[in-house]
Amino acid sequence: MKPIGVFDSGVGGLTVIRELIHQLPCEDIVYFGDTARVPYGIKSKETVIRFSMENILFLLKQEVKLICVACNTASSLAIPAIKNHFKVPIVGVISPGVREAVYATQNKRIGVIGTKGTIKSRAYELEIKQLDPKIKVTTAACPLFVPLVEEGWLSGDVVMAVVKTYLKPLKDAGVDTVILGCTHYPLLRSLIEQVMCKDVTLIDSAKQVAIEVKKILANEGLLNKGHKGKQKFYVSDNPEWFSGLAARFLGRPIKDAKKMSLV
Ligand code: DGL
Repeated sequence: MKPIGVFDSGVGGLTVIRELIHQLPCEDIVYFGDTARVPYGIKSKETVIRFSMENILFLLKQEVKLICVACNTASSLAIPAIKNHFKVPIVGVISPGVREAVYATQNKRIGVIGTKGTIKSRAYELEIKQLDPKIKVTTAACPLFVPLVEEGWLSGDVVMAVVKTYLKPLKDAGVDTVILGCTHYPLLRSLIEQVMCKDVTLIDSAKQVAIEVKKILANEGLLNKGHKGKQKFYVSDNPEWFSGLAARFLGRPIKDAKKMSLV
């Protein structure tokens, strides 16, 4: 029984793992967090493509049957360039989130927040427009959110001021749906909700990604049954840091993350 492979730039992809475990409890999962080279959100497209290729090659060595790119920045910048190079299905987080947002919006105004790399790539915007050209998309890069979340600043005046500042263009545009286009943003959900008001729908693509993974595995006859899925965690640096943050992202601590060198 082959595992599902998942990679992220670091710890954030555990929000996707959480949902995969929930929806696919019989699947084994191998996770790779590129903690030596995080963050990807401020790196160039060429670099993110190279890192993503290396991460995929590592996962292929673990004989995975499907690769899920949990990182929004890697999904935006690398997947379009590398997807056709591999035989295993590669699932990113952009399309599932876009489909849900296009379905959810009533006033055809969608907001997208993400890292600088994700926003600059216009990946979300272009996919939304492909599904419905009439939708108006307002985007905002929120580069301080990742360090705030990793430092555990999930509430308080400072973080509230940052959230308000970043979300102002989305509020001004009157969006009724916001895509949380970064692994870390679901942890700021309640603050984002407070700032955007209750009737705005927040889209966390993790759920939709897990649905998509399940669908692909079912179509290919690769779904596991009657087996209790296990997870293995690998990182490129600092497993202690990763393990310490894991509880916040995964909802439980990880004790056995292993350090792996990619080169
Ligand atoms: N995982 C990244 C993302 O979802 C956020 C952290 C980073 O910048 O590497 O875009």
